[in-house]
Formats: sequence, structure tokens, C-alpha cells
Amino acid sequence: MSQGIEDKVVVITGASSGLGEATARHLAKRGATVVIGARRIDRIESLAAELTANGDKVVAVETDVTDRDQVRNLVDIAVERFGRIDVMLNNAGLMPLAPLERLKIDEWDRMIDVNIKGVLYGIAAALPHMKAQKSGHIINVSSVYGHVVDPGATVYCATKHAVRALSEGLRKEVKPYNIRTTIISPGAVSTELLEHISEKDIQAGTREFVSKIAIGPGTFARSVAFAISEPDDVDINEILFRPTAQPV
Ligand SMILES: NC(=O)c1ccc[n+]([C@@H]2O[C@H](COP(=O)([O-])OP(=O)(O)OC[C@H]3O[C@@H](n4cnc5c(N)ncnc54)[C@H](OP(=O)(O)O)[C@@H]3O)[C@@H](O)[C@H]2O)c1
Repeated sequence: MSQGIEDKVVVITGASSGLGEATARHLAKRGATVVIGARRIDRIESLAAELTANGDKVVAVETDVTDRDQVRNLVDIAVERFGRIDVMLNNAGLMPLAPLERLKIDEWDRMIDVNIKGVLYGIAAALPHMKAQKSGHIINVSSVYGHVVDPGATVYCATKHAVRALSEGLRKEVKPYNIRTTIISPGAVSTELLEHISEKDIQAGTREFVSKIAIGPGTFARSVAFAISEPDDVDINEILFRPTAQPV
């Protein structure tokens, strides 16, 4: 059990793999109650079953973050079951990299829908409860690509810059309600993120680069744990980390 984490009710989107899954495991082990969402219900149900068998409190709810009603349902289930929501981790995202000239317009739409609108739907679902509670913590996942723009990653970078912009506006707007906001901007971490790059040459090149430098998801999970376990009068607004070997 860990002070500042124990007994917190934490909702995590995109918890079926990678950073979200690692964070669910990390926080559940430290005594948080974790409500996990993703589209792959089999994955999150087996994660919930595994953690519950260890004595942890974990509930899985099938959630597509591009559907605002499903995101509201995810958060409402947390509040109905556990009485409140302390942390909303808007983590779901995808990164189908390709240069603009390849005109992968459906993928641009998808990134905007998941990486930006999905985060906004998470905010919309959590905010009314947190305002009523006069407490809460919204954590949005950006990226090193929310700070820099690389050719071939333009639309993804735009979505992650947007996440930082809307998080900064949110930070200022929710001051009257005692709500904390954190942006976490990871560098290259080994997850399933590269599996959804449809352009095979770009996928191969990115895999080759990332496999040489990527770190595990533990730093991300510990960053979330750090932000939420700081005293209530401390607002950790942004954490940016990279593998030591990452040049960009
Ligand atoms: N790994 C990195 O190097 C890195 C670096 C910077 C930022 N990030 C960000 O970190 C976040 C997590 O990514 P990851 O690296 O952990 O990749 P990942 O292993 O591919 O995980 C992505 C998660 O997002 C979920 N997701 C995708 N579309 C969704 C949708 N429509 N509705 C609900 N969930 C959806 C996936 O679940 P389902 O498919 O089951 O729905 C999955 O759980 C993303 O926002 C990503 O942009 C990652």
C-alpha cells in the first residue's frame, strides 16, 4: 500500500496494453481501486481477473473512447460502484505514422478522434463528478512529439501538441474546483504502439530505431504514481521523460 495512492479511485483508458496496462498493475498493487477501459474486452477482463485474484480492486469496462457515451459510462460505473472518481487517466492513443503526402486521411481522422476527441470525452465524463466533489485529478498523455515535430509524424505531433494545449487550458479553468491536472509526455517506450503503423516501410524503420533505444513502461507508471501521490496542495503539471539514448 502507498500513501496518496491507496484507496484512490482511478479510471484508465487504453488499459488493454502498454502504458495503460502497466499503470493499472502498478496502481492496483499500491492499493488503488482501478477501473480500466479499452475496446479489447477480453484483454481488460483477464487483467481485471488476474489482479482481483491477487486481492486488488479492478473493474473492466468495454470502452471505445471515440464514443462519448461509452466514455461517460466508464466513468459513471466508477462513481456508481465506488462513490467517486479521484483520477482520470486519458491514455488511449494511436500513432499510425506516415508523411502527409501519402494522404492517409482516414488515419488522420482516427488520430484526431482517439488522441484529441477521446481525451476531451474523458474530460467531459470526469469533470462534472470532480466539480461536485471539489476534488480530482485529470492526467492526459501527450508525448515528446507534443514538444517537437518530426517529418513523417506531423499529424500525430499535431494531436499531441493539442493534448498539451487543452491540458494547459484545463489547468487554468478548473482552479476553482480544486482539480489537479498533469500532462505526461513520454519518449520511446516499448509497447504495441508501432503495430498500428500501416505503411510497412515506415513501420520497419521506426521499429528499427525504437528497438535500439526504447525503455519499459515502468517509468510511465511511476510518473503517474508520483503525480497522484503528491500532497493535495501540489499540482504536478507536466512530466517529460525520454530514454537516455533518445536523441530527438
Ligand atoms: N509507447 C510510446 O513510445 C509512447 C510515447 C509517447 C506517448 N505515447 C502515448 O501513450 C499512450 C498509450 O500508448 P501505448 O504506447 O501504451 O500503446 P499501445 O500499447 O498500443 O496501447 C494503446 C492503448 O490505447 C487503446 N486504444 C486505442 N484506440 C482506442 C479507442 N478507440 N478506444 C479505447 N481505447 C483505445 C488500446 O486499446 P484497444 O485497442 O483494446 O481499444 C490500447 O490499450 C498513447 O496515447 C500514446 O500516444 C506512447
